[in-house]
Amino acid sequence: MIPVCQPFLNGNELKYVDDAVRTGWISSSGKYVKAFEEAFAEYCGVKYAVGVCNGTVALHLALTCLGIGKDDEVIIPDFTMIASAFSVCYTGAKPVFVDADEKTWNIDASKIEDKITPRTRAIMAVHIFGNPCDMDAIHEIASRHNLFIIEDAAEAHGALYKGKKAGSFSDIAAFSFFANKNITTGEGGMVVTDSGHLYKKALYHKNLCFDPDAPRNYIHKDIGFNYRMSNLHAAIGLAQTEKADEYKEMRIRNGKLYRKYLKDIKGIILQEDQADAENVFWMNGILLDPKKYGRTRDELVHLLKENGIDSRLFFVGMHRQPSLLNFGCNGTGDYPVTDNLAENGLYLPSAGNLKEDEIKYICDVIRGQKAEDRRQKTEDRGQ
Ligand SMILES: Cc1ncc(COP(=O)(O)O)c(C=O)c1O
Repeated sequence: MIPVCQPFLNGNELKYVDDAVRTGWISSSGKYVKAFEEAFAEYCGVKYAVGVCNGTVALHLALTCLGIGKDDEVIIPDFTMIASAFSVCYTGAKPVFVDADEKTWNIDASKIEDKITPRTRAIMAVHIFGNPCDMDAIHEIASRHNLFIIEDAAEAHGALYKGKKAGSFSDIAAFSFFANKNITTGEGGMVVTDSGHLYKKALYHKNLCFDPDAPRNYIHKDIGFNYRMSNLHAAIGLAQTEKADEYKEMRIRNGKLYRKYLKDIKGIILQEDQADAENVFWMNGILLDPKKYGRTRDELVHLLKENGIDSRLFFVGMHRQPSLLNFGCNGTGDYPVTDNLAENGLYLPSAGNLKEDEIKYICDVIRGQKAEDRRQKTEDRGQ
């Protein structure tokens, strides 16, 4: 089976983890946390980074630093991974959904203003599958309505918009280092920002509201979280960050090869790059037009499986999530682009170390070529 993704760890990961274990620094103290934070901040082109234990809590911490809470609303894309929405719910605020753009599959910036109310405090820009959002349009709306921007850059390590890296387009941003991400620590996350004030808040809230600047008197003025990253995870993250550009190029190469081999297949639609941006192709998604393609999405998933290829269905829209509707989110209204993506989209194997032959094989299967070869062989054998 060609898996959808597997981690690629071919640098100093073992060396640094070995060092952490041998020296006994396995919790959140230890040199690798700081070293990883500094290296990752530099990679993103921002001043500060704060390591945490996954991308979901990175989002929650970032929202907490912005002071988002009960009675607030945060605009998020309807087409996203559930953690974008849940992180808003954790603060007590309500996520408010905006449909996806038909071409880029990111939040449709032209539909954001309709959803702004006096309660709106922030817009969450999620760079879906590594494709940066239309940040100029989002900034324009945010400054007109005095809103914060938070980036969910969980899928977009190293992606560029107008020459700047993902994580540096907003007030504060969150990354995930889950095993399938372009940079991984197994489980892990990071909050990044240029604001010294938000940085201090992130350090404070992530560590049970111990004041990072005061002696430990065990008096806690606020309710904090334990979102600390361990030195072991940071050791892997530092090694990964050293190779971040190499890993990014591997994913971009995958994206280009998929585009080359899928280009002329009828009924297969690909995500379009945001203008002035560089997509880092965390995942290579395809959207089917079943009538033109001649198969449904489920039939294609089955065909891929029969030929040893794993795939994943696209996210289901936030307006259809029982958890969010029970939480009091407004799921009414039409989300035709998200619904189409959710019904007809899937993503294909996208690990950085896929071989060109494998990508070509996957595309041949999608083209129906392999099924045709098999049918021909069966006929030739007179069966
Ligand atoms: C867009 C998006 N946001 C948030 C997350 C949450 O990250 P984690 O799985 O590290 O909690 C993910 C994870 O895949 C994601 O894709």
